[in-house]
Amino acid sequence: MNLISIADLTSTQIIHLLDRADSWKKERSANKFAGPLAGKSLAMIFEKPSTRTRVSLETATVELGGHALYLSSGELQLGRGETVADTARVLSRYVHGITARVYDHRTVEALAQHASVPVVNALSNREHPCQILADLMTIRERFGRLDGLKVGWIGDGNNVCNSLILASALMGMDISVATPSGYAPAADIVERAKTIGDGCSLVEDPNDAARGAHVLVTDTWVSMGDEGEEAERLRVFGRYQINRELLEGASTDAIVMHCLPAHRGQEITDEVMDGPQSAVFDEAENRMHTSKAILEWLIAPRRD
Ligand code: CP
Ligand code: NVA
Repeated sequence: MNLISIADLTSTQIIHLLDRADSWKKERSANKFAGPLAGKSLAMIFEKPSTRTRVSLETATVELGGHALYLSSGELQLGRGETVADTARVLSRYVHGITARVYDHRTVEALAQHASVPVVNALSNREHPCQILADLMTIRERFGRLDGLKVGWIGDGNNVCNSLILASALMGMDISVATPSGYAPAADIVERAKTIGDGCSLVEDPNDAARGAHVLVTDTWVSMGDEGEEAERLRVFGRYQINRELLEGASTDAIVMHCLPAHRGQEITDEVMDGPQSAVFDEAENRMHTSKAILEWLIAPRRD
């Protein structure tokens, strides 16, 4: 079993993972270092920088009793031309799971195809499923439910947006995605979401996505790998900002989320990010608890 797309999970499996993440959050101090990954190792391949994903996965592994290896792709023989397939075969002889943060989604798919241990997508250009499990946990903590909530995405139709669209469809949330023309989420993902539920709409005006939303979400205008387009993106995305005026159009109990790292003053203002409706640091913390749920589920499944 792998976690490459958030849609690799059913809604029942998502609820199970969120329940387990809630338990790990409650039991954090009690279970430290004595958990289900005792004697197990996790290889974590990173082609791109990371703060949250690396630290949450590594700390989660250690707290579950396992050992995590941070492997920068440039320091592996991958960087000298060893194939992804051979890397997957060899790592599978040593470790019990592989996570990979990659530029090209096909790399993480190839790892999953050739590894004999579970592979987790730790962010590709197409999806970021680990982030979205933490987002769902955070939304459920705040509202006590997911079904029927209205989500507004403001900004780039990127990897995080793609996974959020699929997760919204799976969990019965309505999502309205506001992007500039030419920056819409992946068409096949939108189509897939529409086969699961009918709650996904694409708009251009950020106010349309924000209106009445329970959850407002944004992300950087310039994802890792898009740096060559930075000047153009900064020009095009100017009005796709979560600020006080936009938030005023949302539901009065709305929360604001951002996977981080944030570019304060661009996609989100300081006032909103540090304000009472911001859930961004709970969201970041929940990466740790959902990482535990993912690793337990894939590497050391419970029998209950
Ligand atoms: N949200 C997220 O994935 O952050 P990092 O890039 O720091 O891992
Ligand atoms: N969309 C961003 C997410 C960073 C966690 C990126 O891919 O760079």
